[in-house]
Amino acid sequence: MLGRLPGERREVAAGREFRRGHWHGHELVAVLSRVGKVAAATTATVLIERFGVDRIVFTGAAGGLAEGVAVGDVVVARAFLQHDLDASPLFQRHEVPLYGRARFGTDPALSDALAAAARAVLAQPASTLGPDAVREFALGAPAVHEGLVVSGDRFVATGAESAALRQALPDALAVEMEGAAVAQVCHDYGVPFAALRTVSDRADDAAHVDFTRFIDQVASRYSAAVLEQYFRLLPKS
Ligand code: ADE
Repeated sequence: MLGRLPGERREVAAGREFRRGHWHGHELVAVLSRVGKVAAATTATVLIERFGVDRIVFTGAAGGLAEGVAVGDVVVARAFLQHDLDASPLFQRHEVPLYGRARFGTDPALSDALAAAARAVLAQPASTLGPDAVREFALGAPAVHEGLVVSGDRFVATGAESAALRQALPDALAVEMEGAAVAQVCHDYGVPFAALRTVSDRADDAAHVDFTRFIDQVASRYSAAVLEQYFRLLPKS
């Protein structure tokens, strides 16, 4: 979706390129979060402090954790947690010190709208991806899942690590590297937040295979199509 905004204007802040533009009558700012929790927190803070955004929608890829969360499916986050945060014994494992909680919820209305847009797009994957990509990545009937997504500063790429995550956090649907940080920043500022992730791998020993190609051919196309649908249906304020 970066580079698709008609009449966009580019502005650099904190070393990132922010693109301001309009889509389906809505004003928006598009930016790459960068990788990892700190980078994503900085990006979210700049969006809020400097650009004054009144909501944030995050898209990207994730590794599937829960049974049935398959490559090519989409996860709409209803809550986030940092799976690598552990200040025990001072605080419970995963609890963010001084917040009294481990989980940060996403905005229900924004997430409902994102999930509806995702379901509409995934009902016909070939019209977004083309028949060749559907065949190459064996994307038969992709599903939309909703629930907990966990974040940490590690690309999870072994069966042992994903099994440990499943055991520690049985309701986690997927794992990625940024969402919980953005959720916490949005919580701090009272900014509604929603996130959608395309499942690129199963966070196991095969997780690195063709990751870049999958992002190119599938995840980025789903993101653009879902956001297009989301902005088209969003009432103009
Ligand atoms: N993003 C996509 N796949 C991932 C994985 N296996 N671990 C962390 N982040 C990811």
